[in-house]
Amino acid sequence: MAKLGVNVDHVATVRQARGINEPDPVTAAAFAELAGADSITVHLREDRRHIQDRDVEVLRKTVKTKLNLEMAATDEMVGIALKLLPDYVTLVPEKREELTTEGGLDVLRNRQALKKAIELLQQGGIVVSLFVDPDIAQIKETHRVGANTIEIHTGSYCEACRADERKIELAKILNAIRAGRKLGLGVNAGHGLNYQNVQEVVALGGIDEYNIGHSIVARAVLVGFERAVREMLALIRKEG
Ligand code: PXP
Repeated sequence: MAKLGVNVDHVATVRQARGINEPDPVTAAAFAELAGADSITVHLREDRRHIQDRDVEVLRKTVKTKLNLEMAATDEMVGIALKLLPDYVTLVPEKREELTTEGGLDVLRNRQALKKAIELLQQGGIVVSLFVDPDIAQIKETHRVGANTIEIHTGSYCEACRADERKIELAKILNAIRAGRKLGLGVNAGHGLNYQNVQEVVALGGIDEYNIGHSIVARAVLVGFERAVREMLALIRKEG
């Protein structure tokens, strides 16, 4: 059965909008685990726009399932990972100007730096995944540089509007799953998956774990909104 990793970055995005201490991504992670999530993912970005170092430190102590730290393959991040020892690290490309991770790693072009980061992380006992586009050459290179797992970037499929485009993107994902499996890699998938598009990917089979964040946080805001308003009204109407 496929697993679900819940990415709680955007709980922290709401918190950072006010610079106070709520909503707390650590509390969200605990609720995700109570609901049955198999792992918790956070992306510690270079600019610390959402998740903060302290969040990762506290999550390391409180997560009862598995902690997946998404990060760029920089010396700073490798140092943090080796100090905190998440169960998994997912290496992603990172650009300061992007709104979210845009595309997979270019493993072919960055093989030396990635190989070095992978070796250091694995020496620390961390399982390493590389976030890659559904591109066979990149997946083969991921195997050559010694990673344990690929996370297939599903963004192009999720953004495809026309049915024929979606079909092409799904076929690429299926080929990527098969290539990853053939090489003995773990196969995860994520980015842009939501309540409308995830089932077509699930139907392909062969994916170990889905990493999903934005759509879950977005839905939580809306499904919880009515209750939150009712609770505030109850307090206000107590007067007199
Ligand atoms: N996987 C990776 C590698 C990501 O960078 C992200 C976004 O942080 C996700 C999965 C989750 O994507 P989304 O928030 O669109 O569900």
